[in-house]
Amino acid sequence: MTMDSPRNQNSAVGVRRTVTSILISVASLVLSLVVVSLFAFSSPSTSSQFGYLISADKLIVPRVVSGKSNNDTQKEIPNLSNEGTPSENVIQEVVIPNQTDKNEPGLNESSNEIKDPLTKNEESGSDGTLNESPLDSKEASREGELSEKYDLGTCDLYHGKWVYDEMGPLYTNNSCPVITQMQNCQGNGRPDKGYENWRWQPNKCQLPRLDPRRFLELMRGKTLAFVGDSVARNQMESLLCILWQVEAPKNRGNKRMQKWFFRSTSTSIVRIWSSWLVHHTPDPIGPAPQGIDKVFLDVPDETFMEFIPAFSVLVLSSGHWFAKKSAYVINGTVVGGQLWWPKDSGEMRVNNVEAFGISVETVLTSIANDPKFTGLAIVRSYSPDHYEGGAWNTGGSCTGKVEPVTEVVRSGFTDTMYSKQIGGFKKAAEEANGKARLKFMDITEPFGLRPDGHPGPYRSLDPNKKTKRGPNGEPPPQDCLHWCMPGPIDTWNEMLFEEIRREFETGKG
Ligand SMILES: *[C@@H]1O[C@H](CO)[C@@H](O)[C@H](O)[C@H]1NC(C)=O
Ligand SMILES: *[C@@H]1O[C@H](CO)[C@@H](O)[C@H](O)[C@H]1NC(C)=O
Ligand SMILES: *[C@@H]1O[C@H](CO)[C@@H](O)[C@H](O)[C@H]1NC(C)=O
Ligand SMILES: *[C@@H]1O[C@H](CO)[C@@H](O)[C@H](O)[C@H]1NC(C)=O
Ligand SMILES: *[C@@H]1O[C@H](CO)[C@@H](O)[C@H](O)[C@H]1NC(C)=O
Ligand SMILES: *[C@@H]1O[C@H](CO)[C@@H](O)[C@H](O)[C@H]1NC(C)=O
Repeated sequence: MTMDSPRNQNSAVGVRRTVTSILISVASLVLSLVVVSLFAFSSPSTSSQFGYLISADKLIVPRVVSGKSNNDTQKEIPNLSNEGTPSENVIQEVVIPNQTDKNEPGLNESSNEIKDPLTKNEESGSDGTLNESPLDSKEASREGELSEKYDLGTCDLYHGKWVYDEMGPLYTNNSCPVITQMQNCQGNGRPDKGYENWRWQPNKCQLPRLDPRRFLELMRGKTLAFVGDSVARNQMESLLCILWQVEAPKNRGNKRMQKWFFRSTSTSIVRIWSSWLVHHTPDPIGPAPQGIDKVFLDVPDETFMEFIPAFSVLVLSSGHWFAKKSAYVINGTVVGGQLWWPKDSGEMRVNNVEAFGISVETVLTSIANDPKFTGLAIVRSYSPDHYEGGAWNTGGSCTGKVEPVTEVVRSGFTDTMYSKQIGGFKKAAEEANGKARLKFMDITEPFGLRPDGHPGPYRSLDPNKKTKRGPNGEPPPQDCLHWCMPGPIDTWNEMLFEEIRREFETGKG
């Protein structure tokens, strides 16, 4: 098996050069013509954002900085203002959880004694070797065969197709004790099950079925952290469910992070909540009153930054909170907002999609240049939702989807968010001069093919929940954003495993 340098795995690299040269020429043109008073950045840390703003403004979404004229991107943004009825309000309920996350498992050790149905003898000890865990070697040898047949080292994981897999999912709703009820589609009465059985088949290689023991071995003595929004939680729980099949971890969480410890390999899986990945506060700033969130696009979120030196792998998830009502702040000044902008404040300079791109650049630049962080930082690309025919609260629906599709139903908002995220990633990658390695986990397109993978109306145990369309064809309230467990999101962790394996096994650098 031959392997290229892991640098080549960075799927953004291919397009970087051309886009960069366009950016540079456009930006310099713009700079020579345009007034530089839009933002008077002078510090080195923000100067790149200046360049980003100008080039993105002129190149990617024309006139995007004007609040009224950004038709194209604005019209598909789900309306997340706080006016909906909370009980019917999927996104608010799910994407906008309470900061303390009280309803989620694992934050509070003493109140989250989760009984593991599989490993009753967890307490009976392990001396820290894998031999002690109840291993069997079927999976490992299967993968061994596969790796002889396919090039597992370098191929593009993110272009391919979904194929039906008789082997079924890596766990079930009954064999994993940490499925959040909203993602427990089977437990919530979803009638079809086929969506659990599709494997991702990259064009030029095999994505191995995840072998939990190999994963733990690869992560021996290491910490893997998921940082971000509820989609980060979704992925973290998927990984826990997969690993749980061979070992029940110890809950070592505290108020500031959820943490699960696997004794056999001293591996920790961590999750830290961060809605935007950048700092935010409810305190009033300028024209933005108390209450509305002020999102500081140029300040990384302190809730996780202080912990990153301890992380070997850091998976970042953000995007959907940029659809929520908030004010955007750069260098202490309010520069824009989402579903909020005072009429007398002149033109909005940064809208929500621009804000997303800037936040990604800020966070990643800061991680990449943190001298204490020497690990692998992975940006998991924007997770596509599948509200068709409307937004989450305007009749959008994924009801009745039971199979993958072969063509992505394009969403202007998803496409724009994705391009802003890639833009932010590239800027950060160019500026990176620390020891960190950066990767872009490019799941947006493959998962655009999985409208069947969401809970839809099966998002709670409520026996009276509406699951059918009403008399006028209106769909029931539903979640077409998070992913059922088991379900397609398990594939993210197979991709993650493969990315980590390539990074670690091919040596660093
Ligand atoms: C940031 O704001 C402060 C005052 O609030 C100002 O002195 C400084 O020049 C600003 N920096 C940039 C880069 O605009
Ligand atoms: C907004 O979109 C409509 C139709 O999509 C178009 O006719 C109009 O010119 C657009 N307005 C601006 C300011 O771009
Ligand atoms: C958002 O939805 C609420 C209620 O569903 C509606 O009153 C409000 O006008 C909408 N706002 C926007 C900006 O579409
Ligand atoms: C968090 O949730 C608790 C109870 O569920 C509620 O009382 C509190 O107001 C919430 N806090 C925020 C910031 O939403
Ligand atoms: C955990 O929960 C228990 C009871 O629910 C509570 O007494 C304790 O203070 C909590 N601990 C933390 C760290 O939140
Ligand atoms: C798992 O799903 C089945 C239906 O497939 C359901 O009968 C069972 O109650 C669910 N178990 C849990 C723990 O949700």
